[in-house]
Amino acid sequence: MSGVDFLSQAKAIAPDSLRILLTGHADMAAAMNAINKGEVYRFLTKPWNNDELKLTIQHAVDHAQLEKGFVGSVRVLAQVGEMHSSGIGSHAKRVAGLSKVIAEKMGLTPKEIFQIEMAALLHDIGKIGIPQAILDKREGSLSDTERQILERHVLQGETIVKMLPNLLEAAKIIRSHHERFDGNGYPDQKKKNNIPLGSRIIAITNAYDRALNMRNVFKNATPALALGYVIEQAEGAFDPQIAAVLREYVSSAAETCAHEIEIKPADLRENMVLSRDIKTAKGVLILSKDSRINNHNFGRVIKHIESNPFIEGIYVYRNA
Ligand SMILES: [Fe+2]
Repeated sequence: MSGVDFLSQAKAIAPDSLRILLTGHADMAAAMNAINKGEVYRFLTKPWNNDELKLTIQHAVDHAQLEKGFVGSVRVLAQVGEMHSSGIGSHAKRVAGLSKVIAEKMGLTPKEIFQIEMAALLHDIGKIGIPQAILDKREGSLSDTERQILERHVLQGETIVKMLPNLLEAAKIIRSHHERFDGNGYPDQKKKNNIPLGSRIIAITNAYDRALNMRNVFKNATPALALGYVIEQAEGAFDPQIAAVLREYVSSAAETCAHEIEIKPADLRENMVLSRDIKTAKGVLILSKDSRINNHNFGRVIKHIESNPFIEGIYVYRNA
């Protein structure tokens, strides 16, 4: 196995690792190929200098820590935006996870996938500037003026995310996440491939997750029903190629992703059944997996949440 093959497999096993290639001059073409494909972070030529190797490793560690801190900040920002969401649990986090999977299946580069994932996490961040009374209304009952105000969230989101210099692509993606494939979307009425690819991906993953996890439907919805609903209801809205990728993924992964859902503490109701333990940040068990929320333990969980606010949600069985 060549070094490049080895690193390629290492990437598949641990995609978040930073890989460094040591190569001879003769392998330069292979090394460049590996770098261009995002397989390696840096390469050093043989024979290497130990100080240079140590410095490269130190840079890799610094880079990883910076990136982790940056992504953590983006997640906090997304969590703040989530407070205005009408979906159940962490809609933005699920849309980001699904958009990443779709982008990977479409063979995009790690850089493109990163921008799409960040854009998905922050796609509705512009809603923090929209009055709650408008966000709480059903779309069909908005007046023209209210609709115009709501639609501004894509521009406000772009403006906010543009402030982060390494998310300029994500900002463009956010601007266009409500464009439709047939040109009848907003804000620019872009059509087909003129809409950024990331926006076309998020348009469909966003609609899919809403159909699956809106507050009033999540208990009875299934991935297959949600996908069918999105595709039937939105003729012309989505890129058919991306819809096909989503359809294939949903049919192959439906069983593994359907059985549980992460909800916010505020969404907890009696009769829900926990699919994971609820523990304190220090690991003390509050209520174990498979417990049904009832009159007695509901108060205990709420009391715990109030005195130990935690940012992660609670996991319950969807159809229990
Ligand atoms: Fe939106």
